[in-house]
Amino acid sequence: MKTPKRKRIVIFASGNGTNAQNIIEHFQQGHLAKVVLVLSNKKDAKVLERAKALEVMASSFTRDELHSENGVLKTLKKTDPDIIVLAGFLLKFPAPLLQEFPGKVINIHPALLPKYGGKGMYGSHVHEAVAQNKEKETGITIHYVNEEYDEGAIIYQTKVALGGDETAKEIAEKVHALEYLHFPKVIESLLNESEYTEFNG
Ligand code: GAR
Repeated sequence: MKTPKRKRIVIFASGNGTNAQNIIEHFQQGHLAKVVLVLSNKKDAKVLERAKALEVMASSFTRDELHSENGVLKTLKKTDPDIIVLAGFLLKFPAPLLQEFPGKVINIHPALLPKYGGKGMYGSHVHEAVAQNKEKETGITIHYVNEEYDEGAIIYQTKVALGGDETAKEIAEKVHALEYLHFPKVIESLLNESEYTEFNG
């Protein structure tokens, strides 16, 4: 019997890359899909090391390459991804790339959008704002990417309760734990074209 071809995942990340690593490892344990390429806008990003250590192709691109037809667009066309995952990617994803891969680009945001979203709201900035406002809950949002920061259709959200006195670092740890648990499963369900309907909200 012929084994079905594995789906192809491309990840964009700007920094540490713990989510990228978690996604790579998740799909290395199964047969549905594999991460075929990790791309970063930072040439010294830890995510590139993490990917290479797991034998995934990884490279960086310049701002010019992100916006030129012969740069990232050409690489992506050649790579032919089934899904493009932004996992801690901090630049705006260019419109021509979205147009080339409609409905295939998703992002994770470390808060319950529409709260704590938009330009400048990323990573620790989000958790600092949540801590400062003594929020009683936070969470993660996985959404389609459109041309505005953090405004694409929501695919999945889940929450975690806060006491209101956690530090930004403690909040980040809680949010990361949710990301590690749910992000690979959401990607998997999108690749399976089934609905990921669980909503703990
Ligand atoms: C993640 O928490 C992700 O949700 C966030 O950056 C972190 C990257 O961590 N993304 C954004 O803030 C996008 N607006 P990682 O590099 O360890 O995966």
